[in-house]
Amino acid sequence: MSFARIEDAAVRFGEKVVLENCSLEIKERAITCLIGLSGAGKSTILRLLNGLRRPDEGRVIVKGIDLTTLRGRDLIEFRRKIGFAFQFAALFDSLSVSDNVALPLREHTKMSNAEIDKIVTATLELVELETAKDRMPAELSGGMLKRAGFARAVVNNPELVLYDEPTTGLDPIITHVLTDTIVRLRKELGGTVVVVSHDLESIFAMADYIAMLFEGAIIEYGTVEEVRKSPNPIVQQFLTGSEVGPIPL
Ligand SMILES: Nc1ncnc2c1ncn2[C@@H]1O[C@H](COP(=O)(O)OP(=O)(O)O)[C@@H](O)[C@H]1O
Ligand SMILES: [Mg+2]
Repeated sequence: MSFARIEDAAVRFGEKVVLENCSLEIKERAITCLIGLSGAGKSTILRLLNGLRRPDEGRVIVKGIDLTTLRGRDLIEFRRKIGFAFQFAALFDSLSVSDNVALPLREHTKMSNAEIDKIVTATLELVELETAKDRMPAELSGGMLKRAGFARAVVNNPELVLYDEPTTGLDPIITHVLTDTIVRLRKELGGTVVVVSHDLESIFAMADYIAMLFEGAIIEYGTVEEVRKSPNPIVQQFLTGSEVGPIPL
């Protein structure tokens, strides 16, 4: 079943064409990994999916609703159902870990402090940060910051969670922990997940589906096995990290 669909989207920044005739299907309850070169437009696709940006052409359909038609309050309401784990954890420096994670609940619900505490504690347990709940962001390691960001992204149980480069720049052990955390959160909380990543090992470990973005459009899509066997030389060059091939350097 399809959870979301980008149909023939174009995104341009002035003269620069980032997406053109870009179509992508996001399957419900699956983990879809979006791969592609730096600057290809992966983060832009995530912003289309949570309504942070409207395409210049085409449509973005999430749960049957055309986001391009939503305005104002309806758009804000819609965006609450989507969790976004940013590339740079984007925590508030002046708030403790638990206050950061509680923020979406404090802002968007009428829950009591006791209810919020309970959910925040349970969510921090899921990302194995319960012992760090009173710490400040400056006191956390890179991997812990990421997990706190994950906790904040999922705390209101969104139907769609978007992770932008969750492991980029981190060592292999932290990468492993973060990959396991994404898989665990999906298993425990359900929902549909899209992960932008360059980390092939991590992608092969967690993806149900892989989509590759190249020169403005999705050029390959399928299960891990299908994409690994892709006859497309661009996909093969990306997967092997070879400097020899059709990708312009
Ligand atoms: N707000 C913006 N204004 C101008 N150019 C932008 C803006 N956001 C993104 N871009 C450009 O769009 C391209 C795609 O960006 P992005 O989606 O962040 O790529 P990726 O996440 O794949 O690295 C990049 O060349 C970037 O410079
Ligand atoms: Mg990006």
